[in-house]
Amino acid sequence: MANSPQILRSEVIMEKYGKKVAGKTILITGVSDDSIGGELAMQLSAANPKLLILSARSESKVAGIRAKIHATAPEVQIRFLNMDLGDFASIRKAAAELDDVSHIDHLLFIAGVMFPPYSKTKDGFESQLGINYLANFLLVKLLLPKVRAAGPEASIVVMASSMVRLGKVEFEDYNYSDGKTYDPRAAYSSSNAARVMFVKRLGEKLKSDGIRVFSIDPGAVQTGLQRHCPPGFIDQVEEMKKAGPMSDLDGKPYPFPPWTSTSEGAATVITGMVDPTIAEYCGSYLNQNAVADHELHTHINDKDNWARLWELSERLTGEKFSL
Ligand SMILES: NC(=O)c1ccc[n+]([C@@H]2O[C@H](COP(=O)([O-])OP(=O)(O)OC[C@H]3O[C@@H](n4cnc5c(N)ncnc54)[C@H](OP(=O)(O)O)[C@@H]3O)[C@@H](O)[C@H]2O)c1
Repeated sequence: MANSPQILRSEVIMEKYGKKVAGKTILITGVSDDSIGGELAMQLSAANPKLLILSARSESKVAGIRAKIHATAPEVQIRFLNMDLGDFASIRKAAAELDDVSHIDHLLFIAGVMFPPYSKTKDGFESQLGINYLANFLLVKLLLPKVRAAGPEASIVVMASSMVRLGKVEFEDYNYSDGKTYDPRAAYSSSNAARVMFVKRLGEKLKSDGIRVFSIDPGAVQTGLQRHCPPGFIDQVEEMKKAGPMSDLDGKPYPFPPWTSTSEGAATVITGMVDPTIAEYCGSYLNQNAVADHELHTHINDKDNWARLWELSERLTGEKFSL
């Protein structure tokens, strides 16, 4: 394993490797005042990137972060990219709006939703599958030429979650029988399994290009993500922690992650982007700033499932993605 797992603040990683971010063009989804994506934008701005492309569903979401960056790093260019990840047309339009951007050094997929009541994206897919995963598949397909144009050491980093340990892709019933079989927690876990499996296959395909590809567990951070959790959710989690470890889909026990700050949540993304010690682990799942593939279960490690997911994603997005 490269590195040993350690919860670290983003500032610590930036101190070590921040220079690698200077002059770079970086696209971040999921930017808002209190989100991990917003914190990540702030942290990266300290290292003088050339251009931060901040994406959200409305410009007002990024206004607070933009103002803070203008105040602390006025030389950093900021561009807002309007994109609803629950709408393929919006994603395609946003990608087309980047025509004048010659290359993207770091593509950071941070946006996501957790445990919403059943709903479908504009294109008719269960919302967690659509927003957390299918949107990323489509965006990588559309923007990969720009990442390739950035050359070796460019990165694609995809947010996932420790709940991947409970997730498998529902190949036969990805829309949960129009909500009849929907369990918000199982669907969140499943969307994260898809994120990690996609990254595994993408990493395998892009390793020879020198592009860094990682999925990330940011740990447990109190953000807007818990908005769909039932009242008392945080207390429930504390009670479950006292009851002992959980078991993953292989029956392997694992502990609940401790609560951490947004800076600590963003840190592993930065590790994925620039830490040279993990470069050879392209495609891996990272947790606490270290390679954590040993945390994954059989369904996720099954290469046939990676291929099956790729084909399903091509079909659902209507986008052939050959590499
Ligand atoms: N926080 C944690 O403990 C934790 C743990 C494990 C994994 N994660 C992962 O970390 C990521 C970031 O979560 P967070 O904690 O920063 O949550 P957050 O504060 O809720 O931020 C999520 C961001 O995603 C955006 N988003 C949601 N739906 C969207 C859509 N359809 N189109 C465009 N943007 C959309 C949200 O924008 P709106 O405000 O417009 O909805 C928000 O800016 C998620 O992918 C999550 O799965 C978080």
